[in-house]
Amino acid sequence: MSRTDILIIGSGVAGLSVAIKMAEQRQDINITVLSKTLESETNTSWAQGGIAAVWNLEKDDHQKHIEDTLVAGDGLCDPEIVRFVIEEGPTRVKELIEWGARFDKEDDGRFDLGMEGGHSENRILHYKDITGKEIQRTLSAKAKSYNNIKVLEHLYAVNLITQHHLGRNLTRLSNDIECYGAYVLNKETNEIETLLAKATVMCTGGSGQVYLNTTNPLIATGDGIAMVYRAKGRLANMEFVQFHPTALFTTTNENPDFLISEAVRGFGGILKTPGGEEFMQKYDERLSLAPRDIVARAIDNEMKVSGEEHMCLDCRHLDQQEFLEHFPNIYEKCKSLGIDPFVDMIPVVPACHYICGGIKVDAYGQSSIKHLYAAGECTCTGLHGANRLASNSLLEGLVFGDRIAQSVLKEINHLKWNEDIPDWDAEGTSEPNELVLLHQSWKELKSIMSYYVGIVRSDIRLKMALNRLHLLFLEVEELYNNSKISPQLCELRNLITIAYLITRGAQMRKESRGLHFTIDHPNQFDYLETTLM
Ligand code: FAD
Ligand code: SIN
Repeated sequence: MSRTDILIIGSGVAGLSVAIKMAEQRQDINITVLSKTLESETNTSWAQGGIAAVWNLEKDDHQKHIEDTLVAGDGLCDPEIVRFVIEEGPTRVKELIEWGARFDKEDDGRFDLGMEGGHSENRILHYKDITGKEIQRTLSAKAKSYNNIKVLEHLYAVNLITQHHLGRNLTRLSNDIECYGAYVLNKETNEIETLLAKATVMCTGGSGQVYLNTTNPLIATGDGIAMVYRAKGRLANMEFVQFHPTALFTTTNENPDFLISEAVRGFGGILKTPGGEEFMQKYDERLSLAPRDIVARAIDNEMKVSGEEHMCLDCRHLDQQEFLEHFPNIYEKCKSLGIDPFVDMIPVVPACHYICGGIKVDAYGQSSIKHLYAAGECTCTGLHGANRLASNSLLEGLVFGDRIAQSVLKEINHLKWNEDIPDWDAEGTSEPNELVLLHQSWKELKSIMSYYVGIVRSDIRLKMALNRLHLLFLEVEELYNNSKISPQLCELRNLITIAYLITRGAQMRKESRGLHFTIDHPNQFDYLETTLM
């Protein structure tokens, strides 16, 4: 059993921001940050386009960014959350710059602000097309400068510890659930350790690996959302899965799919059919720069109607020198596959990219479970509503990181460890000898979600998905209850929970809104969140 004052599960933009903002103010508390693989293996590291923040006050203002976020969110954003994220965002980005983050500049020294879908002004700060890597580098270096932040790699959080582990029967109606830390699998020793914490912060990122095609790295298995669901915490809006319109189409089934940043369309790239015809005029007057839900559905529809395997992004008319300066990584990737963006159109398909729903938290990241906070992509804060505006995610991670730090530090002196927590009970389990079953179930799960719960949904598809998921759930639970735990088994189990939550949320929402489009309920009816019990 080990103890830390603060346990942060996740080392991306959200987790490291919480840690740094706490350590800045208190050097006398222990802050432990967990990564299930390497510290830098995060969704954060993969971010391309950049971070949206109102910067050029001659042209832009907070109100415009607020409006753009609300419009993209299609009636489901919480206006107060949107307001403070956008107002506090530029201060958080300035801090990031003070900590060493580089963003591209124009010749006159002003920031080169990019444009992405749904934004009415150029306001995306970026570092070439590898902004996420730069942010991850900056945060990791800053975190290292504090002696009281320990980043531990290859530690896999399995479950949150609550009164359930003291023998109490908790239900979703229990309103006094408390979190005492987490059971954590040490991947080097293969033992499950009890990690007690006075406050725990869930920052485990997204769950894109639940679909066949995703831009999310392999770590994005929805662990935090599933852990909170098992602990009977509140979740919301899980049906709103964002498909990025332009992942690079390949015939080699790469996982993850390589992203062709929306910033390329912001730079002038135009969506076309493989035959070279523009089609976005049929769907939205903002053409290739309409919000993501609209563009992804348009591409999906064009592919279905024409039977083509992909659509294309035409960049052949763009200034080559400037393209290379802005998108060196994208250019290199295309070239490595024999695609020359100045000669060929880039083949693109939509791919699962982001989950707008998740752990329901308040304006200070407090979840429905006491002493449990959450930040970043695993949360539902109210910022994104039914569809996230491009480049608002990194911003959300920074702003909520700061707010959680403020809030936790106010109560930390009054909190104690719960010393009665029992060790993990592994009795009756044995080494799994049929690992191949895990791979097969994972493949089935991804197929179910991709074919039945994708960009366009229907009642019958959702029902068929739930029937199939139920079977998978029973099989994997049996495996889990009898096997010695491994990260692969836990991830599969968590993804089955995520799949259930997305599908059930989609079934409950009898309307089409934002990222959730169903042919059986094409109109909009209410403005409620879906809460999953
Ligand atoms: P992550 O950065 O994903 O970090 C998750 C952490 O949790 C990791 O350290 C992981 O090891 C840890 N973890 C997970 N489960 C466990 C467990 N069980 N035990 C221990 N640790 C665990 N957003 C933008 O705003 N702008 C962009 O330009 C942009 N581009 C993107 C491009 C791509 C290709 C992708 C995939 C996403 C992009 N996004 C972008 C979205 C954005 O990158 C993510 O939403 C954001 O980085 C999530 O940050 P996070 O801190 O919540 O999670
Ligand atoms: C992109 O660069 O297109 C991704 C931006 C985002 O997901 O916010």
